[in-house]
Amino acid sequence: MFFPIKRQRRLRKDDRFRKIFRETRVFPENLVYPIFIEEGIKDSTPIAAMPGQFRWPVEKADVPVAEAIKAGITSFLLFGIPQKKDKFGLSASDPDGVIPTVIPMLKHRFPQAIIITDVCLCAYTDHGHCGIPDVTGKILNDETFPYLSHMAVAHAKAGADIIAPSDMMDGRVAAIRSSLDIEGFPEIPIMSYSVKSASAFYGPFREAADCAPKFGDRRTYQMDFSNSREALLEMNLDFEEGADILMVKPALPSLDLIKQARDNFNCPIAAYQVSGEYSMIKAASANGWIDEKSVILETLTSIKRAGADLIITYFAPQAAGWL
Ligand code: PBG
Repeated sequence: MFFPIKRQRRLRKDDRFRKIFRETRVFPENLVYPIFIEEGIKDSTPIAAMPGQFRWPVEKADVPVAEAIKAGITSFLLFGIPQKKDKFGLSASDPDGVIPTVIPMLKHRFPQAIIITDVCLCAYTDHGHCGIPDVTGKILNDETFPYLSHMAVAHAKAGADIIAPSDMMDGRVAAIRSSLDIEGFPEIPIMSYSVKSASAFYGPFREAADCAPKFGDRRTYQMDFSNSREALLEMNLDFEEGADILMVKPALPSLDLIKQARDNFNCPIAAYQVSGEYSMIKAASANGWIDEKSVILETLTSIKRAGADLIITYFAPQAAGWL
């Protein structure tokens, strides 16, 4: 008669056992809720490709924040959608622009909230690219720095707690860091989108933030999702340039890169469960093909298990209610 010596099922036999041996737990404090704020609208507008998500007018931005705080969420990532767009995305650094206007309002009403702001030009430029193009349509790198730096400083002056550059220009963390320091904000951390792959999973977001590129694509600045050594290099560069938190996105397609980040850097690691990851789960569960709650909690736990301290997710308030 053969008996296996090791039987993993011994420790899985019921919920009491499973609970005490569980290695990974997600807490509401691990979750960051992204919110879209649009200038010049009167009412919240549903985002068709992201059921349950809205663009909020500045005056009503407190509504999703209050709801999320009630569920236990403490951190928010703000995206602005301006009324005016131009080649240089100038409205991004306007002190009276959408994000600098909404931050003090939110801070006043929710002083305990952590407000993170996305720093990138794509929602503010008329061509929809994250940097400034030359006449041939090539996205210029160093020429984009001043615009990003001004944007970051405008957010810092308005009271942002953390600055999150997502443009993927080379060297922009250093440029933004030095502008923040010079302008008197040496204590504001930078959470850089370090490994941001050129991903089709951002599709629904482009509707949400009205930032689809009008020509070409983002593959000259966002990373090739085939590359993991390069991902490590990107993280290294951002870390050396002064990034305080490294972010990897999209999350579920990049679990190996999140793990690499965790293993190689002793700083907080964030992962962004992006719009396409959200919409897929929403669509499949709306059709009754998967169980929404179980799938959401499984994805969040897997992302944390891979090594993320923070998870940016549109499910934040929903998931916090279950955790
Ligand atoms: C802006 C930006 C994007 C996302 C975050 N910041 C879109 C893009 O780069 O095309 C994607 C987030 C999501 O899909 O939820 N550069």
